[in-house]
Amino acid sequence: METTLLSRALDEVQVETLVIPCFERAAAGSALEPDTTRAADERTGGLISELYTSGEFTGKLLEATLLHRPTGMAAKRLLVIGCGKQEEFGTTELRKVGGAALRVMKGKSARRIGFVLGSSLATMENTTALVEGALLGDFEPDQYKTDPKKAEKMVDEFTVVIPPGDGSVTRKALERGRVMAEAQNFTRALVNEPANRLTPMVMADKARQMASEEGLECEVLDRARMEELGMGALLGVAIGSAEPPALIILRYRPPLGISGVHLGLVGKGVTFDTGGVSIKPADGMEKMKYDMAGGAAVLGAMKAIAQLKPSISVTAYVPAVENMVSSKAQRPGDIVKSMSGKTIEVLNTDAEGRLILADTLTYAIREGCTHLVDAATLTGAIVVALGHFNIGAFSNNDAFLEKVRGIAKSQGEKMWPMPIDDEYKDYLKSAFADLPNIGGRYGGAVSAAMFLKEFVEDKPWVHLDIAGTAWLDEGKPFLSKGPSGVAVRTFVSLAMQW
Ligand code: BES
Ligand code: MN
Ligand code: ZN
Repeated sequence: METTLLSRALDEVQVETLVIPCFERAAAGSALEPDTTRAADERTGGLISELYTSGEFTGKLLEATLLHRPTGMAAKRLLVIGCGKQEEFGTTELRKVGGAALRVMKGKSARRIGFVLGSSLATMENTTALVEGALLGDFEPDQYKTDPKKAEKMVDEFTVVIPPGDGSVTRKALERGRVMAEAQNFTRALVNEPANRLTPMVMADKARQMASEEGLECEVLDRARMEELGMGALLGVAIGSAEPPALIILRYRPPLGISGVHLGLVGKGVTFDTGGVSIKPADGMEKMKYDMAGGAAVLGAMKAIAQLKPSISVTAYVPAVENMVSSKAQRPGDIVKSMSGKTIEVLNTDAEGRLILADTLTYAIREGCTHLVDAATLTGAIVVALGHFNIGAFSNNDAFLEKVRGIAKSQGEKMWPMPIDDEYKDYLKSAFADLPNIGGRYGGAVSAAMFLKEFVEDKPWVHLDIAGTAWLDEGKPFLSKGPSGVAVRTFVSLAMQW
């Protein structure tokens, strides 16, 4: 889908569908907002105010009504779309509205749609969020459907319409929205790949290809190298699979040289999680292809970072492995030695994410990362604790956590702070090794985070448990079902706003 910018009076825009954003009315009979809505209402002889007075439309967020052959307009149809309460409206809402507008019109033979931002909404930030939302809304996880897509029914141009003579919005805002959306859609497409098509090596190949397209340095550590480095925790997980593991590393360095900050982004890349010998139940196991969503988010973020060029060094580390059952697989009770030197008793082979992340965090620190953020579909327990709307955020550094949370909030990615007080260390006691890989019955997401904390030394670190947020079991009006691409926006903004 193409995205374009057009500076034109709204009655003169020749598109199949013109989208008019509308707020909830403050009180019955009060002025229509924003200015776009008022203008469209005047040009059409009161078509929109009639929608409100009839009670058919209230302006509630994402409410949508399609009107055909509006009088006084060059556009063939008007899509009147709700933006919620004016005082609660921001870029997060506009991103959703853009996605919802696109999804309403998809398959309705509107090749060209225009979205009007009147003078009160026409800003760079809004334009970026709108274009980003539209491109996110356009994504479908249907790459393996053979049904020919009805190309003639899809939207192929999305135009942001700003007032004539408006100089406050430039093409740069659109491009930024596109970069952000394409990074997230790259992540979503990777996550949607089934495990027979996305093995650890294939994931590494895709990272390498993206890196060469975007001008990032790529290095992939193979099993032999991991053995030399003593990554026993990571290798223990990988040993049950015929597919060799890969530790994918992508490096971005700022054009103006070193800044002193070196951000390490670490993402869990389990291409399939059977649970290993501590095998998972069959019901729902197919979803475990998304157990590499943290790794995919890190790779997607690097794609955008390569283009937006922040002023700090950023390195991505993705341990890619498959957690399988076989005669060679690791057993409960096995003891492995991590790269840090700590020994781990593997009490449950299904708690594999923390094992591969442990060695990867150590490696990132040995490479000189000053700050670490990891994203992982780490525990079912975080889904029990927070459900599907908030990422669980754990940290050993309050200031760093607040920084990450603030950025996440501005990007519309919700995070909720979770505790990792020293008391929880009691959950991680092993009779035979330095650490067990699981805690007790309670606070499962916390004991997983406590385990990771043992490997981050003194570095400021934030751990994001995205098990509840990386996959949408149901589609939303603005996003298809399947992979959500969560954490990409936070990672990119964190690097950009350092
Ligand atoms: N990948 C899973 C976590 C997960 C579970 C994500 C359900 C999404 C939905 C992880 O590797 C895992 O299996 N964790 C175990 C840990 C347990 C054995 C301590 C879990 O959460 O059950
Ligand atoms: Mn598991
Ligand atoms: Zn897992």
